[in-house]
Amino acid sequence: MRVMAISGSLRKLSYNSAVIEAMSLLAPEGIDFVVYKGIGDLPLFNPDLEDRHIAAVEDLKGELAKADGLVVASPEYAHGISGVLKNALDWLVSGEEFVYMPVALINTSPRASHAQAALREVITTMSGNIIEEASVSVPLLGSGLDADGIAGHVEIAQALVNSLQAFSAAIALNQELNNQ
Ligand SMILES: Cc1cc2nc3c(=O)[nH]c(=O)nc-3n(C[C@H](O)[C@H](O)[C@H](O)COP(=O)(O)O)c2cc1C
Repeated sequence: MRVMAISGSLRKLSYNSAVIEAMSLLAPEGIDFVVYKGIGDLPLFNPDLEDRHIAAVEDLKGELAKADGLVVASPEYAHGISGVLKNALDWLVSGEEFVYMPVALINTSPRASHAQAALREVITTMSGNIIEEASVSVPLLGSGLDADGIAGHVEIAQALVNSLQAFSAAIALNQELNNQ
């Protein structure tokens, strides 16, 4: 099972990127957890460019097409989703790669409820399938933890492992139902 993960932050010491790196360290056997790092290379979305061959866009779509599920962690900026993440999602709106994609939302700042609500709305509108039992909030803001620190933090690591297990179970169930 292949799970792709995107952080909506380009910041070097990003908690959202760190949580995703930690999930790749914690991923149980059977989950090929791929951290996607290319969203900062995407041009600003312009529907006029959708027919062009843009390497960064083709790379994003190609990676998503190979994935069985998508993990998204986004910071909240001024009560919204980060622009880089929204830009990446806009490039995916008219394609087929995202439709019915199981999505796990990881929130690294429980106080940041506006961005999570906005992200839910966008992903649902794009026909993504948010897996509630895999979507978790972990209090990383101000913790100073990096990926290794998160993976080594008993409670937070357990919450992330639980999320991954619930996510893989939901993906497997979806695949089974689709094959019937
Ligand atoms: C320009 C800017 C705006 C922000 N706006 C909010 C906000 O509206 N609500 C909030 O809870 N945090 C806000 N924050 C805090 C960030 O969400 C927080 O620092 C988060 O950890 C950033 O994600 P990262 O660590 O993955 O880079 C803001 C930070 C910046 C830089």
